Amino acid sequence: MTNPVVQQLLDRSNRLGSDPRNTNYAGGNTSAKGEETDPVTGQPVELVWVKGSGGDLGTLTEKGLAVLRLDRMRSLVDVYPGVEREDEMVAAFDYCLFGKGGAAPSIDTAMHGLVDAAHVDHLHPDSGIAIATAADGEALTKEIFGEQVVWVPWRRPGFQLGLDVAEIKAQNLQAVGCILGGHGITAWGGTSEECEKNSLWIIDAAAAYIDEHSKADPFGEPLEGYAALPEDERRAKAAALTPTIRGIASQDRPMVGHFTDSDVVLDFLASTEHPRLAELGTSCPDHFLRTKVKPLVLDLPGTASVEESLARLKELADAYREDYRGYYERHATPDSPAMRGADPLIVLVPGVGMFSYGKDKQTARVAGEFYVNAINVMRGAEGLSTYSPIDEAEKFRIEYWALEEAKLQRMPAPKPLATRIALVTGAASGIGKATAHRLATEGACVVIADLDAEKARAAAAEIGGADVAVGLAVDVSKAEAVQALVDAAVLAFGGLDLVVNNAGLSLSRSLLETTEEDWDLQHDVMAKGSFLVSKAAAKVLIEQGMGGDIVYISSKNSLFAGPNNLAYGAAKADQAHQVRLLAAELGEHGVKVNGVNPDGVVQGSGIFAGGWGANRAAVYGVEEKDLGKFYAQRTLLKREVLPENIANAVFALCSADLSHTTGLHVPVDAGVAAAFLR
Ligand SMILES: NC(=O)c1ccc[n+]([C@@H]2O[C@H](COP(=O)([O-])OP(=O)(O)OC[C@H]3O[C@@H](n4cnc5c(N)ncnc54)[C@H](O)[C@@H]3O)[C@@H](O)[C@H]2O)c1
Ligand SMILES: [Zn+2]
Repeated sequence: MTNPVVQQLLDRSNRLGSDPRNTNYAGGNTSAKGEETDPVTGQPVELVWVKGSGGDLGTLTEKGLAVLRLDRMRSLVDVYPGVEREDEMVAAFDYCLFGKGGAAPSIDTAMHGLVDAAHVDHLHPDSGIAIATAADGEALTKEIFGEQVVWVPWRRPGFQLGLDVAEIKAQNLQAVGCILGGHGITAWGGTSEECEKNSLWIIDAAAAYIDEHSKADPFGEPLEGYAALPEDERRAKAAALTPTIRGIASQDRPMVGHFTDSDVVLDFLASTEHPRLAELGTSCPDHFLRTKVKPLVLDLPGTASVEESLARLKELADAYREDYRGYYERHATPDSPAMRGADPLIVLVPGVGMFSYGKDKQTARVAGEFYVNAINVMRGAEGLSTYSPIDEAEKFRIEYWALEEAKLQRMPAPKPLATRIALVTGAASGIGKATAHRLATEGACVVIADLDAEKARAAAAEIGGADVAVGLAVDVSKAEAVQALVDAAVLAFGGLDLVVNNAGLSLSRSLLETTEEDWDLQHDVMAKGSFLVSKAAAKVLIEQGMGGDIVYISSKNSLFAGPNNLAYGAAKADQAHQVRLLAAELGEHGVKVNGVNPDGVVQGSGIFAGGWGANRAAVYGVEEKDLGKFYAQRTLLKREVLPENIANAVFALCSADLSHTTGLHVPVDAGVAAAFLR
């Protein structure tokens, strides 16, 4: 049974963490002290439960807590070797753990354990950090909170900061918390309610003070031409810039992107002071790994053309990389971890918005959220005083902290398609749906495109939330709709890597029965549709400069002259030749183009359910329900072909194992000699 003290801690943490005003995503930590019975001695034992390393307060569960014996934790003070070797104490926390399981203790554990209060919150609220990063933060703290909240000059999180805060609490009996310079806040209380009340009071009092005393335009006068573009224009420009910016952000390693054009971002970029402030960089210790020390800012107005903006962005990217290398070299010591890549993680485009990057969609999105936090902090600090983040050397120490590096090294190996963004047409059903699932399972972000928006969204939701799959409507036979799809896909995940031309339909008719409409429809969806999708997508792939894959789901019927199949078979043959033509044309851009030739995929196929199955069954003289088995019997392997078998082939073609293969068709038909490739 959950200890009631723990339940209170979890409830409080979830409440605090679910309001972004209180702390950033996965930022801050909370703790409670209480008693349990030691199963070894049968005696009561004092414990501290504290949010462990990683995880988010808003969704914290008991599993996310580290549980330590308070007596052992506090004994560490006697063996503490001093601030120069404080990092060693993190390993020592493991010797204080109580029982099995639980999360790994974080760097902030010392602050929670050493402060003499039953409940402690350490948070990263924008309002609190605004005070913490104001040049006269100490005076402001006094003015806003009197003796109730104590100023603690910047110190890197760690054992020493824990000792400092504990000492402050002991020396200031009237205090309910402190402002940690350059960093955040810590509050405490004798009960969980009191602690939560104190945290919220500090956050609200800081916010109210900023509201009341801030100058009218903390970011300065509006900059001519830098105002937000109207929404349609802004989105169109963002989509046009996205592939190149992703290429810029992915020079060292491929990235997934997130785009934000919220008012907070656009207002910041529309004002005179944004270049100076952006250059000063972020401050809270959580930020540096997520956003890098500073963003890349395009120094052109929103009204600049796409071409002009792209040319300038490329110049700025070179300068950014050089600047970052300089920063690394200025501060690295012989035992620093190797440079982790010099590309920006945040790219700001006035009038348009913010592009943020990460190893997956969630990381990219959170990086963007963090920069919004940074903007809020800068607005607050500049409104009252001058924004004055911690200095560059300290930022470097945090970004390249050995403990952070160790955490990164412990991360599980990425999945085979991690960072890759897939677009699958006709993916609300059958083969396309199975393919979307497989690509997502292998780590790709997936855009499901199909005729019906509702069905596309439902299919995406089956895979997961918007960080892994989105569903969009498209009629692939319409050029404008295809362009809109590719733009939306690119804005959803920051780019495109894998394109699967799967949308299709089939009408089984003899030559004399085939109408002009039958012919046009099948050619429009499959031959022309794939052409349009390949064309719009290839532009993105070429601009990104990161290679890519285009896979066509053509058919055994692209080679085999099946009965009553003129229009469908001819459209499939057209698709099959597009594979060869595009493989030849796009090879120089590192884009591979391959095809899969399925046959007889009855289960899950809308094509079969929608009349084709009945028709084929009639043509072959079997019952419709036995069609899958019938097809199996005519194969060399006597196996029924399932949508998953096609999906596996698509994955294989896109995986690193086939990195040197282009212009190939893979039959997935359980063996049909008449459709052998030669
Ligand atoms: N099932 C088979 O045996 C088989 C064999 C060989 C090739 N194929 C090919 O595999 C692909 C998928 O077939 P399936 O069996 O999964 O069929 P399916 O009907 O289950 O799926 C096809 C999807 O494409 C969508 N679509 C149709 N027209 C579209 C358009 N204009 N724009 C966007 N989406 C459109 C449909 O809404 C449907 O969701 C097709 O190209 C088909 O020709 C299938
Ligand atoms: Zn912190």
